[in-house]
Amino acid sequence: MEAATASTASLNAEEDYDDYTPAKLIKTLEKNGITAGDIKKLQEGGYHTVESVAYAPKKDLITIKGISEAKADKLLQEASKIVMMGFKSATEIHQMRANIVYVTTGSKELDKLLGGGIETGSITEIFGEFRSGKSQLCHTLAVNCQLPISMGGAEGRCLYIDTENGFRPGRLIAVADRYKIKGDSVLDNVACARAYNTDHQSQLLVQASAMMTEARYALLIVDSATGLYRTDYSGRGELAARQMHLARFLRMLLRLADEHGVAVVITNQVVAQVDGAASMFGGDQKKPIGGHILAHSSTTRLYLRKGRGETRICKIYDSPCLPESEATFAINADGIGDVKE
Ligand SMILES: Nc1ncnc2c1ncn2[C@@H]1O[C@H](COP(=O)(O)OP(=O)(O)OP(=O)(O)O)[C@@H](O)[C@H]1O
Ligand SMILES: [Mg+2]
Repeated sequence: MEAATASTASLNAEEDYDDYTPAKLIKTLEKNGITAGDIKKLQEGGYHTVESVAYAPKKDLITIKGISEAKADKLLQEASKIVMMGFKSATEIHQMRANIVYVTTGSKELDKLLGGGIETGSITEIFGEFRSGKSQLCHTLAVNCQLPISMGGAEGRCLYIDTENGFRPGRLIAVADRYKIKGDSVLDNVACARAYNTDHQSQLLVQASAMMTEARYALLIVDSATGLYRTDYSGRGELAARQMHLARFLRMLLRLADEHGVAVVITNQVVAQVDGAASMFGGDQKKPIGGHILAHSSTTRLYLRKGRGETRICKIYDSPCLPESEATFAINADGIGDVKE
């Protein structure tokens, strides 16, 4: 439920399973009278935590093989006894938010703009033109999330879903060198999967949720979240189906961010804006794809555009708590950093 907090155990505390995720493992339900057999069915259906059951709509639970309507009712009843789903006081929420860990982007200016860095426990969308630095920022974050809290990290591993064959381990080693940490241990902490179509991309999240109960992950990257949707659903007539599939995918991401407290970072492309709204954004002719579905799912939306040479400009496009301002950063040989004077 909670985002990674300062008390997160170190990366190598392999013996203590409860340190991997703030979520409660599904086997906890055995104490509430759910049989081991039913727990196995839930795991096979992609449910690995009590939270994932508690947050699931009943109609999803009954699609799991061997889970009847009566069983689903019982599961929801028991899960909601363990997972707090009612009202909390604002004071409590305020205290919880004070503990949220932010992952440094590598640029002090950018971190300042973002109120500390990329927030754990929520979805950050990075959109912009080709070469605007989306994938470079993802690569830097894949290393930075592993750093100790005191250095701006979140002390966890990274899961990288690559849909464009853009993942380059060499870029991770370059970033690791900058922090004088061993490149090979950094690579060992990043699990990457190529996604080949939108169904596969969603399927990988089911695997991701299982992995997050077996090791401490701090960051999940999907680069890009929308690319395969453009190729799998191309015609106008497929728009509704595309948005429905995308909505389901984004909801799964939100669940992972919520349950495991990981930072979710997704990239997105832009298209030329043809309607009159273009002038609203300072005459900029670009807008992110994905429509309202994506707009409502990402907590923080960042717009990257090219500056001179290696410099790039990041603008907060939408955030529940940050003003619409900009910061300039650089893409350096050792990853994202500040512009050198
Ligand atoms: N080793 C490197 N050292 C310095 N800068 C690099 C290095 N590799 C790539 N870059 C810079 O990063 C840019 C590419 O950025 P990136 O791949 O993040 O773009 P993107 O926004 O992901 O684009 P796309 O939409 O095509 O995926 C290059 O144009 C170059 O300026
Ligand atoms: Mg890219």
